[in-house]
Amino acid sequence: MAEKEELETFLVQAGNRSDDQKTGAVSTPVYFSTAYRHHGLGESTGYDYARENNPTRDVLQAALSKLENGVQAFALSSGMAAIQLVFSKFRSGDQIVISDDLYGGSFRYFDDLHHNYAIDFISWDGQDTEFLQKAVAKPQVKAVWLETPSNPTMKLIDIQKTAEIAHQHETEVIVDNTFYTPIIQRPLDEGADVVVHSATKYLGGHNDILAGAVVCKSAENAAIYERNLMTTGAVLDPFSCWLLIRSLKTLPLRMEKHEKNAQELVTALEKEPLVTQVLYPGHGGMISFYLRDAGLVDQFLRHLRVISFAESLGGVESLVTVPATQTHADLTEEQRQKKHITKNLLRLSVGIENSQDLIKDIQQALAKSAEYSHNQVTSTEG
Ligand SMILES: Cc1ncc(COP(=O)(O)O)c(C=O)c1O
Repeated sequence: MAEKEELETFLVQAGNRSDDQKTGAVSTPVYFSTAYRHHGLGESTGYDYARENNPTRDVLQAALSKLENGVQAFALSSGMAAIQLVFSKFRSGDQIVISDDLYGGSFRYFDDLHHNYAIDFISWDGQDTEFLQKAVAKPQVKAVWLETPSNPTMKLIDIQKTAEIAHQHETEVIVDNTFYTPIIQRPLDEGADVVVHSATKYLGGHNDILAGAVVCKSAENAAIYERNLMTTGAVLDPFSCWLLIRSLKTLPLRMEKHEKNAQELVTALEKEPLVTQVLYPGHGGMISFYLRDAGLVDQFLRHLRVISFAESLGGVESLVTVPATQTHADLTEEQRQKKHITKNLLRLSVGIENSQDLIKDIQQALAKSAEYSHNQVTSTEG
């Protein structure tokens, strides 16, 4: 894989020199055409119809593939479409081991697959290797699906160890790398077989593109995904492809600032008496933390002036989410309690604003929520 410096240059240059019309365009052209003219029977420019391929999407896919060090990448219309593409090769009766702390939408989809398509899921805590050994030894188990760091409780899973165990039984390892991005972690280099992204998050980075990506290591998987994507059609549109190419150019810079800001916020949050626990995996821009009680949450959110209360992550603007009522609302109360996704848990996607402004914003919102809760208590007592 390219060294960090090489990767930075590669990403900035993505799309440059790709214009075969010889205009010299530095920014890659956006091809909106859905149909491509043929000179005669049996002759094609390599482009026939936009669901199959598109020159702007090709530039993006080549960049994504290099970024994750795969053989082929696919750009899709959302992260969920990317997850669905990966699952398109599994069949009724197959079993998939899944780490137990995942994006809520993945749980919802897996639940549907279980009830409607008889695909079974085995929940794994991401740590117990003996459990994993036994699970992957079953012939029905076809893959291990994991997120690391996990969402929203930030647990880390050893991809290399997981792959070593899974590969003893020819079981695939699929990693949702949305949180860390290839700037921090390259799952394919660590032994995983397939990487998935909600490119809506850090890869897009500006809270303005809905997109997904799949990158795979084997030509065999690439051929299956290519055919299935061409058949089902959830490809990324040309303009979003162009926006995503533009976003990738600043990915290393953004990740550096997200991480630096997050580390400063962790230190500040740990000093706050109303914050009982801070969860940070050591890298990246995602932090989760528990407030002293759930009654503080609403006022805290209402008083934020810089950070927005909104349901996403990975953009330049800082966002705060309440997993219990937003991203993980579809889980049962019992499932949420088991995963420690309680109503006083907040997930913060640290943006690239000035870190002191973010810290001050949190401090003043915490002070206002404490004041409100104090007034509530005294007015009830009175
Ligand atoms: C880790 C993770 N994977 C997948 C998805 C789904 O992606 P999308 O919303 O782009 O469909 C999300 C969305 O929040 C996510 O956080």
